[in-house]
Amino acid sequence: MSANFPATRLRRTRSADWSRRLHRENTLSPADLIWPLFVIEGEGAEQPVASLPGVSRWSIDLLLERVAEAIALGIPAIALFPNTPPDRRSDEAEEAWNPDNLICRALRAIRERFGDDIGVVCDVALDPYTSHGHDGLLDESGYVTNDATLDALVKQSLNQAAAGADVIAPSDMMDGRVAAIRQALEDAGHTNVQIMSYAAKYASAFYGPFRDAVGSGDRLRGDKRTYQLDPANSDEAMREIAMDIAEGADSVMVKPGLAYLDIIRMARDRFDVPVFAYQVSGEYALVEAGVAAGVGAREPLVMEKLMAFKRAGCAGILTYYAPFAARLLNG
Ligand code: PBG
Repeated sequence: MSANFPATRLRRTRSADWSRRLHRENTLSPADLIWPLFVIEGEGAEQPVASLPGVSRWSIDLLLERVAEAIALGIPAIALFPNTPPDRRSDEAEEAWNPDNLICRALRAIRERFGDDIGVVCDVALDPYTSHGHDGLLDESGYVTNDATLDALVKQSLNQAAAGADVIAPSDMMDGRVAAIRQALEDAGHTNVQIMSYAAKYASAFYGPFRDAVGSGDRLRGDKRTYQLDPANSDEAMREIAMDIAEGADSVMVKPGLAYLDIIRMARDRFDVPVFAYQVSGEYALVEAGVAAGVGAREPLVMEKLMAFKRAGCAGILTYYAPFAARLLNG
């Protein structure tokens, strides 16, 4: 028994709802959420993603409706991912810097209709554009080359910034990419385009449904372990984050989310930089599978997980549950 019992009864402050609310240490709001959205060619097209129940790919006209929904719900930003038509994928990923690619057309349409009412985060990595599904360019042996890939990532970043991206989010895990992209953005006059770097991105088994959604899964040769972090490592994640901050990242991301809460907390304790978490596709799909199997109701399961990110120290969360959670939070 604790020496100061019964003077200290931790249950006292939990005894009524008003008191629990008063003593709550962390809060969630729609302003904490970034909604990842998948884009496809066509008009009036909605394609459900089989491995992500409740998530669809949208043609640009319908994407605009989702953006209107996000704004109405108070969600500050969306993240865009393309499902590039197969004939536009190539070994060298040239479509990534085509000014008329799907993402650029979506960006211009969003800007035209909504101005600055929403932030748009654009992933930088070559996987939606490569015939082999890797985030970078391959050498003859099939190794993902670092320095040659940097040039491609810079071209992709400048292309997206020119089309109206607010935030460039390099998810490729090449060394030196943040510095290269920052320098190029400055030189091109995009001084206020932010970099949210996927600094601590793990070689995870939780990305499967996302790869279905962008159509890179079946193409992927091998795995991404020569560039994404080993799930066994945390010191190395801190080195990644330190490096990206030094290179000019405005904010950093930890990905996946729930299995890496320790990394989020370590990053918050060590660095004065906004840390975001990506609750990735496999995490979403597991909750949906659990709900379908009768493990529990969706609402409390989702909200507990999202709150865990805030408690761990996140500035915000990328989540496919963004509209679901925002609706609940708005009452
Ligand atoms: C691409 C990228 C991936 C995700 C975001 N950007 C997949 C990967 O690295 O293979 C995963 C997101 C998710 O699973 O929801 N570089």
